[in-house]
Amino acid sequence: MSLLSAPSPRYIRDVHLSFLIGHPLAKASHRFVCQSCGTVHPKWQGKCEGCGAWNTLAEEVVESRVPGPTKAASLGGRKVEFVALKGHSSPPPRTRTGMAELDRVLGGGFVPGSVVLVGGDPGIGKSTILLQAAARVAEAGKRTLYISGEEAIEQVRLRALRLGVSGAPLGLAAASSLRDILASLEEERDVGLVIMDSIQTVWLDSLDSAPGTVSQVRACAAELGRMAKARGFALVLVGHVTKEGTLAGPRVLEHMVDATLYFEGDRGHQFRILRATKNRFGATDEIGVFEMTETGLAEVPNPSALFLAERRGNVSGSAVFAGLEGTRPVLVEVQALLSPSAGGSPRRQVVGWDSGRLSMLLAVLESRCRMTLGMNDVYLNIAGGLRISEPAADLAVAAALVSAATDRPCPPDAVFFGEVGLSGEIRQVAQTELRLREAAKLGFAAATLPRRVARGGRALSAPDGLRLSETGHLADLVAPFAAAAGPRRGPKEKPKPEPAEAE
Ligand code: TYD
Ligand code: MG
Repeated sequence: MSLLSAPSPRYIRDVHLSFLIGHPLAKASHRFVCQSCGTVHPKWQGKCEGCGAWNTLAEEVVESRVPGPTKAASLGGRKVEFVALKGHSSPPPRTRTGMAELDRVLGGGFVPGSVVLVGGDPGIGKSTILLQAAARVAEAGKRTLYISGEEAIEQVRLRALRLGVSGAPLGLAAASSLRDILASLEEERDVGLVIMDSIQTVWLDSLDSAPGTVSQVRACAAELGRMAKARGFALVLVGHVTKEGTLAGPRVLEHMVDATLYFEGDRGHQFRILRATKNRFGATDEIGVFEMTETGLAEVPNPSALFLAERRGNVSGSAVFAGLEGTRPVLVEVQALLSPSAGGSPRRQVVGWDSGRLSMLLAVLESRCRMTLGMNDVYLNIAGGLRISEPAADLAVAAALVSAATDRPCPPDAVFFGEVGLSGEIRQVAQTELRLREAAKLGFAAATLPRRVARGGRALSAPDGLRLSETGHLADLVAPFAAAAGPRRGPKEKPKPEPAEAE
């Protein structure tokens, strides 16, 4: 079985056997491995067929094993006991960091024996947040080790000084040889948390490939993870996202770890978002919001206030979206700008949202609401740098577009949410009450939302003082803007709303 083929528990054992013990039947062969997604190709080619990235294939020498005998007894294995599904199990114990945003994304804290991958662009703040978290755990009395393969000890000390955590009883090491790291961890007693920053710097001398390649990164992560499970400490692996393909990206490790967190953000903005994309011990889609300050990352317990901080009311092209990130409601401002196109095909520039979805909305506004937008360049921006993937944002984006097109501001105290279908119908979205509560909490007085479909269930409980404007069709949203707008850029006529489609 090749070391680079699809992941399986057997793969991990193979890595261990062939690297640390050596296998008499091993023979070397050459493969071309995508450093971004890990897909193996027999020949070099410019584009990876797995992820579509260009120039990410690198040649790697792999040791493949000649298939051995298949009878269990002759493999020298021990029999595994199968037990009944029903039995005693309690929720995993947790090591809390005391940083509420981080703990929530982890599902309540680090789980002993688990492996967490923290990915993100270089310079986004991975080392910073992990040093802060490690210091907190160490201060709480758990043996915590921070191994840096990138920075010298002095650098880490200086950073800790700046973060105000230099007094924490943290074990610090600068190392990158897997053998050294494993040997040192073997000596340690009662370790609670180990941070490896970054996994791309760790290397194993028995492998021919260079540090940071897919085979090195996978083999080293497997070995470290095995030790974490055996010794019961939580392990955090830092993985840089690289676009050049010179280093194996965190994606090649996702299947081997218990949780994957991505640290996102725009370097031009001060806030950062920690997002769980995989979590065997908690919910995914959960986000933690932090602000990068002079003294490290500060938690942002109320992100809506941060995202709306710079909003100027009463300007056209702006609408507030009552969104949801994981289990938490987040209000953000959607900004749209339309300007007559200079010729050729009009530009569509989107920041923080899906450009395909924008094209769809523009088409729906044109053909179902009779608006003429086609000859304009359209710019759409989610203010603050948040990236939104919820379809519920459709209605807020539409409101911003219509407001921009008619040069009429949306009511400054209104929020919008709802999915728009191809016939212009507004569809229901999840967690209406949560969104409304957040809007009311932040002082909004009106909400435009999908028309409720009678399902015989519980009545919607809207917060006091919030005016609800239920909308069945996008044309209902357009009409008030159109009423006061000039005929040049606004809707040509008020169309007859089509009935909302039943779900
Ligand atoms: P870092 O944690 O080194 O990023 P990563 O490990 O993801 O590569 O973060 C580095 C950036 O953060 C750097 O540009 C400086 C900035 N920073 C602050 O703004 N304040 C701070 O207190 C610290 C420690 C870093
Ligand atoms: Mg770093």
